[in-house]
Amino acid sequence: MSVSSLDINIKKIEHSRIGEIDPANIQFGKNYSDHMLVAYYENGAWGKPEITPFHNLTFSPATTFLHYGQAIFEGVKAYKDPQGNPIIFRPYDNWKRMNRSAERMAMPDVPKEIFIDGMRELVNLDRDWVPTGNDTSLYIRPFMLAVDEFIGVRPAEKFMFIIITSPAGPYYNKPVSIYVQDKYVRAFPGGIGFTKAAGNYGMSMYPSMQIKKMGYDQILWTDGFEHKYVQEIGTMNVFFVIGDTVITPDVTQDTILEGVTRESVLTLLREKGVKVEERPLSIDEIEEAFHAGKLKEAFGTGTAASIAPIRELTFHEDKMELPDIEHWEITNWLKQELADIRYGRKKDTHNWVVTV
Ligand code: COI
Repeated sequence: MSVSSLDINIKKIEHSRIGEIDPANIQFGKNYSDHMLVAYYENGAWGKPEITPFHNLTFSPATTFLHYGQAIFEGVKAYKDPQGNPIIFRPYDNWKRMNRSAERMAMPDVPKEIFIDGMRELVNLDRDWVPTGNDTSLYIRPFMLAVDEFIGVRPAEKFMFIIITSPAGPYYNKPVSIYVQDKYVRAFPGGIGFTKAAGNYGMSMYPSMQIKKMGYDQILWTDGFEHKYVQEIGTMNVFFVIGDTVITPDVTQDTILEGVTRESVLTLLREKGVKVEERPLSIDEIEEAFHAGKLKEAFGTGTAASIAPIRELTFHEDKMELPDIEHWEITNWLKQELADIRYGRKKDTHNWVVTV
């Protein structure tokens, strides 16, 4: 079906809740803006989306996603440009990725008119919720749920697509400490590691809780056959600067999320002439590089965290502490460059930025 943005029903709030926000103290994921978008899929077609006041949802206890996790999501961010207008960073890439997740999870494609036009309309309506402070943004969370009222195990036939938005501050306030995981597994070839399926995050809670008790912030996931090749850290893609080369695991085995920030970082580095490699990277190679003084920088990338420097990495008894981040050339340059593009301070030569 094709829905133009004019086909969205809009029901506005009577009184905005924006006064409840302290602009000087915005935390990630705590507050939600005035409106949300909802669209239903049934009988093989999407209905007309609605923008309504933010509200709770009610479901039958027999609803599919509650039992079998047929649920996927995305993470996108909007920023205020220097003129005070909201701009959204690379939403088309998130739209395409959502539909890759949808295919793997036996869910329907979300049309561009609902995902992109709906998002633009929603952000435009709640434009006052896009914060302006340093390191702040409006985090946009599109998601899809299977909503058949049936507890037999089969792909659902009815779905809900929803977008909510949330003013956000930094995800991490300081560089992260990482524990290299060699017991639990996040993803394996042929699995769903490349998707943003809810289950990928649910399965990580127990191992994350264990390492947090040990004093670490995040897990560095390794492959499920040998626990040798690194995959992602926590919910982020991971990069290591070894000598003069930036290395990140390749995404060819369905185990690694094709991060939009990951792709942006690779593009910016290649354009700057930095040597970049996407390939299998073993924890042994990282350890050797560290002990030879060649591991210069390491960072995670993701929409929520943007670029998160890693201050230390622990593998068994080996605690690898990286040099002081203030001197990291590549990470600091990338942070600045990406921020300049996202906040519309620098010319957008890649067509990454979308106005609302
Ligand atoms: C994102 O960076 O958008 C993520 O996926 C992290 C999120 C689960 C908080």
